[in-house]
Amino acid sequence: MSARPIGQPLDRVDGRRKVTGHATYCAEFPLEDVCHGVMVPSNIARGSIVTIDAAGARAMPGVIEVLTFENAPRLPDKGRGATEPPAGREKSLLQDNLVRYHGEPIALVVAQTLEQAMDAAAHVRATYAEEKAVLVFEEAKAQRCKPEKAGGGKPDREWGAAAQAGADARIEHTYTTPMEHHNPIEMHATIAHWEGERVTVYDATQYISGVREVIAKTFGIPEENVHAVCPFVGGGFGSKGSVWSHTVLAAMAARVVGRPVKVMVTRAQMFVNVGGRPCTEQRLLLEAQRDGALLAVEHHAVSHTCRFEDYTEACTQPTRSLYAAPRGHTTQRLVRLDVSLPTFQRAPGESTGTFALECAMDELAYELGMDPVELRLRNHADREPCSGRPWSSKKLRECYEMAAGRFGWERRNPQPRSHRDGNWLVGWGMATATYPAHLEEAHASAALMPDGTVVVRSGTQDLGTGTYTVMTQIAADTLDLPIERVRFELGDSDLPQAPVSGGSMTVASVGPAVRAACEALRAKLLELAGGDASRMYARPAAKVEVHAKASPAAEDETRQAVATRSFGAIFVEVRVDADLGIVRVPRVAAAYSAGRVMNLKTATSQLKGGIVMGVGMALLEESLLDTRSGRIVNANLADYHVPVNADINDIDVAFVEENDTRFNSLGARGIGEIGITGVAAAIANAVYHATGRRIRELPITLDKLLPLNEN
Ligand code: MOS
Repeated sequence: MSARPIGQPLDRVDGRRKVTGHATYCAEFPLEDVCHGVMVPSNIARGSIVTIDAAGARAMPGVIEVLTFENAPRLPDKGRGATEPPAGREKSLLQDNLVRYHGEPIALVVAQTLEQAMDAAAHVRATYAEEKAVLVFEEAKAQRCKPEKAGGGKPDREWGAAAQAGADARIEHTYTTPMEHHNPIEMHATIAHWEGERVTVYDATQYISGVREVIAKTFGIPEENVHAVCPFVGGGFGSKGSVWSHTVLAAMAARVVGRPVKVMVTRAQMFVNVGGRPCTEQRLLLEAQRDGALLAVEHHAVSHTCRFEDYTEACTQPTRSLYAAPRGHTTQRLVRLDVSLPTFQRAPGESTGTFALECAMDELAYELGMDPVELRLRNHADREPCSGRPWSSKKLRECYEMAAGRFGWERRNPQPRSHRDGNWLVGWGMATATYPAHLEEAHASAALMPDGTVVVRSGTQDLGTGTYTVMTQIAADTLDLPIERVRFELGDSDLPQAPVSGGSMTVASVGPAVRAACEALRAKLLELAGGDASRMYARPAAKVEVHAKASPAAEDETRQAVATRSFGAIFVEVRVDADLGIVRVPRVAAAYSAGRVMNLKTATSQLKGGIVMGVGMALLEESLLDTRSGRIVNANLADYHVPVNADINDIDVAFVEENDTRFNSLGARGIGEIGITGVAAAIANAVYHATGRRIRELPITLDKLLPLNEN
C-alpha cells in the first residue's frame, strides 16, 4: 500500500450494498408474522379525552388491537423511567387521558396490513374537554422562564469587567429563526419483537445503547433483555438521537398482540412526534472601538419549548467562544407553548446562534466602514473568551485566508447594490462557522479470524456519514493491513458500547477505541508469537479477539485545561432577482479547521451536506404553526421546502491541515455539524450586499425583500 489509509478519500465500504438495495434499514427487516401499528393523532392542542370510541375501528377488516389510554398496559411510573436526554425524553404512551399537543398519539391501531391499520386509525373517534392552548410565541413571551441548563452549560454567563465608556460603534438588533423540522429521507421506524421476556427492537436511531436503556427502564425490565439493532440510518440530524413515543408504543403493542409490530412514523408525523428545532428570538449587542476592537458582546436568546419538558436551543454558545471581547453577557430563556417537544437539530444552538452573531458582526463592519474579514481578524480569540482557556488547536486565521482566496474576496466592492448582472443584484457575504468538539467513552473489539481478516466491532451508528468506512480506515491504518482485509461492524447493542452519534463526536470517541482495540490485538498476537514479530506470518488456527476502551477520563486533565472547538470560514455569492426577489446561491467557498481529516471524501460530503442544509435554513425552511389549532400546516415536503438539486450549485469545501492531539490520540475533532453553522448569516450578509436590505428574520423569502426596485 502506498499511502496510509487514514485521510484517503476512500469510497464508502457500504456504498455497493446501499446502491444495490442490500443495506437493510430498520423498517425493512423481514420478520415473519409482522403486523402494523399506526398512531392516531389528537385533534386538539390542550385538554383531555372525554370519550374514545375504538369499537368501530376494532371491527374493521384486519384489525388486531386498538390501544388507548383505557386499555393500554400500565407502565411503571407512567413510562417516565427514562427521561434523561439525549436518549430519554418525556413521551406520550397512552398512560392517561391528557392531551398536551396537537398530534399527540391518543391510540395505536394494530392490523395485519399497513393499509388496514391506516384505514382503522382514521375511524377512531374521540371527544375532548378542550382547554385554551397557548400557541403564540409573542403572547407567551411575557411568561418566559430561565432553564436549568442550556446545551449542557449554565443558561447565563457573564465575563470581564464592567462596561467601559468610549465605544465608537454600537449595534443592537433582534434576529429571529423559525420552528424547523429535520426531515431525513428515512423516516423514523421501529419493529419490536418479544420472545418471552426478551425484546428485540429494530429502531432507526443515532443511539442503540440509548434505545436499550430507555426500553428497559420504561418497561421495568433488565437491560440484558433488550436487544437494539440498527445497521443503517438514512439520516438523523438529531431527531434520531432520542427515543420517542412510537418506539415504546411498538414494543408495547408487540407484547400485547404477541407478534412483531412495525410502527413507521409518517412524513406528517415527522413534524410532530420526533422533535424539531424551536423558534428563537435573539437580541445581539456589540460595542467596538473605531479600529474594530470589540469592547462588549451581549447575546440574549429566547426559544420555545413545550409545557412538559425543557429543551433549550443554546444560541448563545458561539458568542461565548468566538470573539475576544473583554466583556460579555449571555442569557437563555424559555417560552412554553402547547406544542410537542423540540429537540437538538443539526448544530443545535450554533446554527441559530451564528445566524444572529455573524449578521451582527456584518452590521458592525458596515457601521465601522471595515471589511468584515478584517473585523473578525481584529477580534480573533487566541483563548476562549468566556473561560480564558487556551485552545487545544485552532486554525481559524488560516480558514479565513484559504476560503477568501478561493472565493476571490479581494475583488469585492463593499458598497451595497454595487454589482449588477442584468436583472440580478449580485452580493457577496461571509461568516465564521464554529461548533464545539466533544467526545465520550467508547469501547471496541478486534478479532483476527482464521482466514487472515480482521473484524472490528463497536456498538456505534452510521447515520449515512461514513462511520463504517472511517473506522475501517482507522483499523487498517493501525494494523498495517489493506482495507479489504478489515471488516467493521456496528449497529447492534450487543457489541461493545459506544455513545450517541450526536454532537459530532463519533469519530473522536469511537476512533480512539478502534485504534486501542487494534493496538491490543497487535500486542496479543506478538505475545502469542513469543515476542518474535518474525513468527507473526502464520495465521492462527482459531479466532484471536481482544476488547479495548477509549476513555476520555484517561486524558481528562490535559483536555479540561483546554477549550476544544472547530472553526471555519464561509463565503457566498447570492443573486437576487431585482423584480421578483428570488434569491439564488450560485457559489460557496468554505474552509474548516476541524482537526485531522480521516477521509477526505466523506468529510467533504459531510460539510457540503451541512452547507446545503444551511441554504435551506437561510432561504426556505419554516414549519408553520396554526396558532388557532396548534397544527403544523405544512407538514409535508411539498409545502415545507428544503433545497433540491436545482437550488444547489458550486460548493467548494477545503480543510486546513491540522492534527489536534491535545483533543484525542487521532487528532480529529468531528465534522458532522459545523457545516450548517454560519451559512444562514453568510447568505443574509450577501443579500444585504446585493440589495441593501438587511433581513433579520429567517427564512429570507421574497415577500420580505420586495419591492427591490428603488424608483
Ligand atoms: Mo446532532 S443535532 O447532535 O445529531
